[in-house]
Amino acid sequence: MAATILDGKAFAAKVRERVAGHVARLRQDHGITPGLAVVLVGEDPASQVYVRSKGKQTGEAGMNSYEHRLDADTSEADLLALIAQLNADPEVHGILVQLPLPDHLDSDLVINSIDPAKDVDGFHISNVGLLGTGQKSMVPCTPLGCLMLLRDHHGSLSGMNAVVLGRSNIVGKPMAQLLLGDSCTVTIAHSRTKDLPEVCRRADILVAAVGRPEMVPGDWVKPGATVIDVGINRIDAGEGKTRLVGDCDFASCSEVAGAITPVPGGVGPMTIACLLANTTTACCRANG
Ligand code: GUN
Repeated sequence: MAATILDGKAFAAKVRERVAGHVARLRQDHGITPGLAVVLVGEDPASQVYVRSKGKQTGEAGMNSYEHRLDADTSEADLLALIAQLNADPEVHGILVQLPLPDHLDSDLVINSIDPAKDVDGFHISNVGLLGTGQKSMVPCTPLGCLMLLRDHHGSLSGMNAVVLGRSNIVGKPMAQLLLGDSCTVTIAHSRTKDLPEVCRRADILVAAVGRPEMVPGDWVKPGATVIDVGINRIDAGEGKTRLVGDCDFASCSEVAGAITPVPGGVGPMTIACLLANTTTACCRANG
């Protein structure tokens, strides 16, 4: 039987609607407008697309969007000075520095210079520690979006075997923490994992976040499992065209899985919706 398609696009629209309602009430009742500052260093084409989309959706939700585009050769001191200025600005409730940064900049140092209360990406070491110890934190947007899709489909995730394929700080590790928090039995698998297909076949929930186009074939998927595909890979489609594919081979995986996210239209739209939700949360916390 064909898998249920987990429609992230429709779900994200509902989340954005809820956020927009919250933003309108904050403005009406308290005269406050949440503000998100996005910092882009350099001209990475994919990052430019994401940043444009973030700015547009922030505005559509009724929030203030502040975009800072810096040259690729911006010094670390100048970037840190901008972040210090944003940290001190009461109109800015969320700060996001788009990654990857150019090689001459120390990403850890830059991320850890953001006020943790404004770290709407949830990448600051304080937020990582809070999440790891089950305390209230800013939760990274992509894993949070995946968790929302999973909870919406399954209700409780308690006792399920979850395999997270990929160990990045942005997705793999926080995803594993969130699934553990929902009482899954969690395995983080990666490029050095032995018998990777066999490990994946044990998963009731398989989250693929490796950034390798169509790496997961249908015969790595347990029949009836839920597959969350975080990959967004642009591949050559011939005749000078390109197309977007995930980390899973959708055609074969969707024949075996019970439910699956498509690419595009699955996890991607959830990320920005969660960013808007995190910014509103940061604004509420800042204003008591
Ligand atoms: N680059 C790819 N994904 C992300 C993300 O979620 N946040 C930031 N800041 N940069 C990214």
